[in-house]
Amino acid sequence: MKFFLDTVDIKALAPSVETGLIEGVTTNPSMMAQSRRPQREVILDICSLVKGPVSVEVIATDYTEIVREAHDLANLASNVVVKVPVTFDGIKACQKLHQEAIPVNATLCFSPLQALLAARAGATYVSPFMGRIDDCGQEGKELIASIRTLYDDDSSLETQILAASVRHAKHVLEAAYAGADIVTVTPQVFRSLYAHPLSDKGLEQFLKDWQAAQKT
Ligand code: E4P
Repeated sequence: MKFFLDTVDIKALAPSVETGLIEGVTTNPSMMAQSRRPQREVILDICSLVKGPVSVEVIATDYTEIVREAHDLANLASNVVVKVPVTFDGIKACQKLHQEAIPVNATLCFSPLQALLAARAGATYVSPFMGRIDDCGQEGKELIASIRTLYDDDSSLETQILAASVRHAKHVLEAAYAGADIVTVTPQVFRSLYAHPLSDKGLEQFLKDWQAAQKT
């Protein structure tokens, strides 16, 4: 399972990218709005920092407008992936963009059937939202596992499962076990993946023993 970063915060992005483990970035309109910067600038900054795919979502909801906006976004940088909601118009736009070789991330996916439609329409990625599903009393990991089963049952489907709305390290592990191809995490969650109290405790003891030996 690969790691993407779910952020528009350039300062937070840079140290994570320097680890060499971040292979792409995802964004959404809420994050863009919170950045209080022109979207174009944010996209160009991220795309210059990250070589891999950078998902940017359309605001339009109507088929014609989604396709028009997708063209504008795709023209900004060669690694832009257009994020399109898995609505009736969104899936239709996904098919059109796929025919034009514009990669699509089918977002706001909450059911295996939405994921199947997105894959049949040629989406490069589908984004099931683990945290938001959990918030409804359902299981994000089961959604991922169901999509994995559907995709594995049809070898003509090449869509990658991009686990999104990931709130903590346990979601990351669950996504991996359930068969996600990629997980997108906030910089905070990414950092938390390195942590274990026994690693800190063990390191502290090793250094203490080493220092003590230097004095003898
Ligand atoms: C990523 O593609 C999604 O936009 C993001 O993970 C949503 O996360 P949230 O449910 O925490 O807003």
